[in-house]
Amino acid sequence: MAPVAVESLLDRAFGPDRHARTAYAVRGAATALPQLSFAAVDGGTLVGSIQCWPVSLTLDGGGAVPLAMVGPVAVEPARQQGGLGRQLMAAALAAAALAGDDRALTLIGDPEYYGRFFGFSAERTAQWRLPGPVERRRLLARGADVPDAAGLLGPRVHAPT
Ligand SMILES: CC(C)(COP(=O)(O)OP(=O)(O)OC[C@H]1O[C@@H](n2cnc3c(N)ncnc32)[C@H](O)[C@@H]1OP(=O)(O)O)[C@@H](O)C(=O)NCCC(=O)NCCS
Repeated sequence: MAPVAVESLLDRAFGPDRHARTAYAVRGAATALPQLSFAAVDGGTLVGSIQCWPVSLTLDGGGAVPLAMVGPVAVEPARQQGGLGRQLMAAALAAAALAGDDRALTLIGDPEYYGRFFGFSAERTAQWRLPGPVERRRLLARGADVPDAAGLLGPRVHAPT
C-alpha cells in the first residue's frame, strides 16, 4: 500500500496535528518495522493500518532495553467498531511472537481497549520518562522483558560501526 495512503488514513483517524503527539517524538526518525506493520485493504482501498517501531528504554542505572512500539493503529472512521482494529492488532502481535519481538512491547493508547483485548497495562511503566507529555494511565506495555525501572523512552539508536 502506498505510504501516502497510510499517511492520509492516519490524518483522518487522528487529525492532521497528529505529528505533535508524544508518540512521534518517541519513535524519532526511525522507519517502521516492516515485518510488524500491516494494512487492511478492501476492494483496493486502504481501510486500516498498523505500524510498529523500534524504540528503546535508556535506563538511568545504565544500559538500554529494546522494545517494539505498537501503533499507530488506525481504522477508517466509517469502518470503526467493526473488528478491523482487533484484527490488525492480532496480526501485529502474532508477527511479533513469530519474530521473537513480543517480550517487550509498548504503546500509548486507551487501557480500556488495549488492556481488555490484548493484555497491555501501565503496571511497569510508572518510572518511564518520555520526550513529551503523556497520560500515565495510557503508557502501556506487555511482555516478560518489559523493564520496571526508571529510564527515558526514545528512538532505538545504534552506534555507528
Ligand atoms: C481505536 C481503533 C483502532 C479501534 O479499532 P476498531 O476497528 O474501531 O475497533 P474494534 O472493532 O477492533 O473493537 C471494537 C470494540 O472495542 C471497543 N473500543 C474501540 N475503541 C475503544 C477505545 N478507544 N477505548 C475503549 N474501547 C474501545 C468498542 O467499544 C468495541 O467494544 P464491543 O465489542 O464491546 O462493542 C479505531 O477506532 C481507530 O482507528 N480510532 C482512531 C484512532 C485511534 O484512536 N487509534 C488508537 C490509538 S493508537
